[in-house]
Amino acid sequence: MSPRKIIIDTDPGQDDAVAILLALASPEDVEVLGITAVAGNVPLALTQRNARIVCALAGRTGVPVFAGCDAPLERSLVTAEHVHGKTGLDGVPVDEPDMPLMERHGVDFIIETLRAEPEGSVTLCPIGPLTNIAAAFRRAPDIVERVGEIVLMGGAYFEVGNITPAAEFNIYVDPEAAAEVFGAGVPLTVMPLDVTHKALTSKEIVEGFAAMGTEVGRAVAAWTDFFERFDMAKYGSAGAPLHDPCTIAYLIEPGLFSGRHINVEIETGSELTRGMTVADWWGVTDRPKNATFMGSVDRDGYFRLIHERLARL
Ligand code: BDR
Ligand code: CA
Repeated sequence: MSPRKIIIDTDPGQDDAVAILLALASPEDVEVLGITAVAGNVPLALTQRNARIVCALAGRTGVPVFAGCDAPLERSLVTAEHVHGKTGLDGVPVDEPDMPLMERHGVDFIIETLRAEPEGSVTLCPIGPLTNIAAAFRRAPDIVERVGEIVLMGGAYFEVGNITPAAEFNIYVDPEAAAEVFGAGVPLTVMPLDVTHKALTSKEIVEGFAAMGTEVGRAVAAWTDFFERFDMAKYGSAGAPLHDPCTIAYLIEPGLFSGRHINVEIETGSELTRGMTVADWWGVTDRPKNATFMGSVDRDGYFRLIHERLARL
């Protein structure tokens, strides 16, 4: 089978960085048509720069990186430096990458790519707030039916929230965008906290990255180690959730994950529960099923895959 064509929409972020590396290391499974940056973990000026840093680290300076939206559709930006550090990629020293930013706006790239590629052949992988995707759908409704699938990291049901008691960060930051994407009618696969909180790193996993003896291995070890401190303190767990690579791992080895095809709605009205993913896991409503909402992951298989693939870089 030929590799799946994907666009990664991202707000790097250490875990975004690992997701990008996993995709770039897996050309037999995914062809990265481009990377669109969005404001999220840190402001856009940093996320677009960080996306280029990651491509340069992988030796893939030919991958086009675009800057997209610098703020949510209808709200002020909320960032997460408390998790990711000031740069978004704290853990390793970051310099201006030796790789250009494309001139085109990220939203234009998404629209033009979906129009140019055969219908149904492009998968979108959003691993940040859904602003760019919703902005593209608003501006060019004709592209919606051209999307093959959306595989995103966001939301939670059993785990409820990480940025507020009720909401996961990516959905919380731009709930209006999320509501539009979840309501668009595109085949949707969701990696919520219910899954990613089972994808916990450990001391051994971090040491395994470092032991690769490569620049990528050292960077990923430093990033996951940095990221761990916050989550371990918060949850009291032995490791930290490596959220975003779940999307790419799913595209490579879907059997690692299991979930349910259900209805998921996004709360936009209430300030208290803003960005909550109201997931009908138990099938108690007749609302139409719009998402495959994952619930578990084979953790050993997940980290085996990431280690194997990153060792190639
Ligand atoms: C999500 O929020 C960000 O902090 C991470 O990069 C991930 O995409 C987890 O809630
Ligand atoms: Ca992210």
